[in-house]
Amino acid sequence: MYYPAYRPRRLRKNASFRRMIRETKLSVDDLVYPLFVTSGRNVKKPINSMPGNFQMSVDHLVKEVQKTKDLGIPAVLLFGIPEKKDEVGSGAFADDGIIQQATRKIKEKVSDIIVICDLCLCEYTSHGHCGTIKDNDVDNDATLEILVETALSQAKAGADMVAPSGMMDGGVGAIREALDEEGYDALPIMAYSAKYASCFYGPFREAAEGAPQFGDRKSYQMDPANSDEAIREITLDVEEGADIIMVKPALPYLDIIYRAKEEFDLPIAAYNVSGEFAMIKAAANLGWLDEEKAMMEALLSIKRSGADIIITYFARDAAKLIV
Ligand code: PBG
Repeated sequence: MYYPAYRPRRLRKNASFRRMIRETKLSVDDLVYPLFVTSGRNVKKPINSMPGNFQMSVDHLVKEVQKTKDLGIPAVLLFGIPEKKDEVGSGAFADDGIIQQATRKIKEKVSDIIVICDLCLCEYTSHGHCGTIKDNDVDNDATLEILVETALSQAKAGADMVAPSGMMDGGVGAIREALDEEGYDALPIMAYSAKYASCFYGPFREAAEGAPQFGDRKSYQMDPANSDEAIREITLDVEEGADIIMVKPALPYLDIIYRAKEEFDLPIAAYNVSGEFAMIKAAANLGWLDEEKAMMEALLSIKRSGADIIITYFARDAAKLIV
């Protein structure tokens, strides 16, 4: 099929033809909306680097979850900002921890929306790392015990799914085993399987107040240069019992999403992270990009690369535009 016999423009000549041969479509069903919950009442504090996102107390959070549901979005992902932080991150597994309170309240007030709890310690530790510290580094196996406690307390609070995001070795397996033992064998795990040590998390660290106080996360999150290693990481999580596997960030890692989709037979989630969101917002704010078009093109590209689920701060804006 060569020109002039084949002319691809024939099928692009008007909107109806383009619609007919369109290969990828975004659906509201694909979206997950992240939210940040903090202590207190009547708190709705804007996050500077993530316009339109807030740290919210539980009362406001419940209203926002209801609005999210009303837009048809099937799930929210919760991040907690505890009142107090300590060395081990005890706020993460406290019965009355912020995530636990929020989850209980949402389950009580809003029906039929999936509550996914982020399962990590960096928002809860005084040093801002994703686990307990030994010899200036995160102690993997000691951290697993805390993650297990946290998973169980989130399950007890009514979480519909837990999402371990700390990149600890053996994390998914330890959590799966503990959940099964305690009777939560029906609770799925969305594993942050290929999570890169990325600068694109910058705005989130302001939002969740979880920036590391020393060093960085390169000893546990992945090197952006690596692709085969992502496959090894995902393989481990699949073997350990992950139900959904995730690649994070999304836009600079579409090749990883594509490989994951090719090689694994599980739903793939992609996290369109805070920095990806902030770039579009900032450029739009300066009049340099059309915000709606940039947002929809970015989300569509993530889906086209192979993502079945897209976690994005644009979820609600996108849901309003998807017909
Ligand atoms: C916590 C966590 C982070 C993000 C999600 N969970 C930050 C980090 O690893 O430093 C980033 C999300 C975003 O940037 O939108 N482990």
